[in-house]
Amino acid sequence: MTDFDVRPVTDDERRSTFDLLGRSLHAQPVSDQAWSRFGSSWPAAHKFGAFDGGTPIGIASSFDTRIAVPGGGTVTLGAVDGVGVRADRTRRGVLTAMMAAQLEDFAARGIPLAALHASEPTIYGRFGYGSAALGKTLRVARPAARLDERVAAGGDVRMLTPEEAVEAVPALYERIGLHRAGMIGRPAAWWPNMHDRHAGPHGRHITAVHSGPDGDDGFVVYDTVERRSFDAPDEGAVLDVRDLHAADPVARAALWRFLLSVDLVSGVRARHRPVDEPLALLLTDHRHARTCEVEDDLWLRPVDVAAALRARTYRAADPVVLAVRDRMLPANTGHYEVGPGGARRTDAAAHLALDVDTLGMLYLGQWSATALAQAGRIEVHDPAAPDRADELFTTVTAPWCGTHF
Ligand SMILES: CC(C)(COP(=O)(O)OP(=O)(O)OC[C@H]1O[C@@H](n2cnc3c(N)ncnc32)[C@H](O)[C@@H]1OP(=O)(O)O)[C@@H](O)C(=O)NCCC(=O)NCCS
Repeated sequence: MTDFDVRPVTDDERRSTFDLLGRSLHAQPVSDQAWSRFGSSWPAAHKFGAFDGGTPIGIASSFDTRIAVPGGGTVTLGAVDGVGVRADRTRRGVLTAMMAAQLEDFAARGIPLAALHASEPTIYGRFGYGSAALGKTLRVARPAARLDERVAAGGDVRMLTPEEAVEAVPALYERIGLHRAGMIGRPAAWWPNMHDRHAGPHGRHITAVHSGPDGDDGFVVYDTVERRSFDAPDEGAVLDVRDLHAADPVARAALWRFLLSVDLVSGVRARHRPVDEPLALLLTDHRHARTCEVEDDLWLRPVDVAAALRARTYRAADPVVLAVRDRMLPANTGHYEVGPGGARRTDAAAHLALDVDTLGMLYLGQWSATALAQAGRIEVHDPAAPDRADELFTTVTAPWCGTHF
């Protein structure tokens, strides 16, 4: 039995809770100098700590932002960006208590959706988070891969100085916009730790920007990893893409053309790309772009089920009634009718029954109701309902987050 209190973190506890998170993730401790550069990314707001006396033993952090939902709308998101428990205090309910406090806080503040990236897939289902958007890792062979001549890839690509990158990229991300369901806004506090730390004056990442007829419309942040050795002198470097966003297909193709043109590189690797990103189609030989891994990317938690279901659009089909169960936020438990006209609570009999984490999996369109039913995650009371739910929830474009947090 462990005694601890869960309460909001104060300003004085920012550094100690950040260090605690780092240790739980086996990260190197940050120096005072580094903390002075990116500590502003770790404000006290929206952090719940578990404390034994005055000592932090657990942290659950989040920031508020917007997330794009199917149909083009956006809603407020509680983005859970740091969860850790001290190694000598795990498996005693510390995370469970912090997750409960965080979810109650999201609900009290009227936040309809919460999301996170999971270090391990077994942790968050019990708290109502479902794997809602996948990402793929691409490997592209250099120098063999070339863009097909039919691909429109006009405009110019220019490399930025680190100072220019810190200045220009946040505004450019904003300009590109949240054009896929699952993409999130990057608030000012996101940048110092996640971008400026790596692409700014003290970092080692390189930033290149594409300009089209209307100005800057895409960027890529990458790093090079040297693979040449005494035994393998021709290996070349691997160009590792960390962040790539483009407003349209021309800008995206032009950024890829640039990446494939960099000399002394034997391959380009890009993790967490949209599963339907058609890079292979852009090449003269599609085998030069291989998908080598598909992983869970964004985990989604409907916090206010009615508001979340109302926020997205649905395709044409007869409505279905979903019976949703939510153990941690019982106010969500109930029946919801979902149809092309929207969603509302109802007393009607349910066609399908599911837990709230499975609703998270269905919500952005990554998984079909049929597949979820076949996997035993949806109980089917009306055999025709999975087909109807597939029609309603399906999206043409795969969901994608594209922001690490
Ligand atoms: C993951 C972590 C936060 C869990 O904290 P915790 O305080 O041990 O979690 P709890 O005691 O509240 O566990 C609740 C339940 O989840 C299970 N669980 C927790 N972490 C788990 C894990 N990593 N793998 C499998 N099950 C896990 C527990 O066994 C427990 O199950 P039960 O309710 O059936 O008994 C902690 O192990 C940790 O800090 N890990 C390293 C950092 C990390 O991975 N952070 C997450 C970043 S996304």
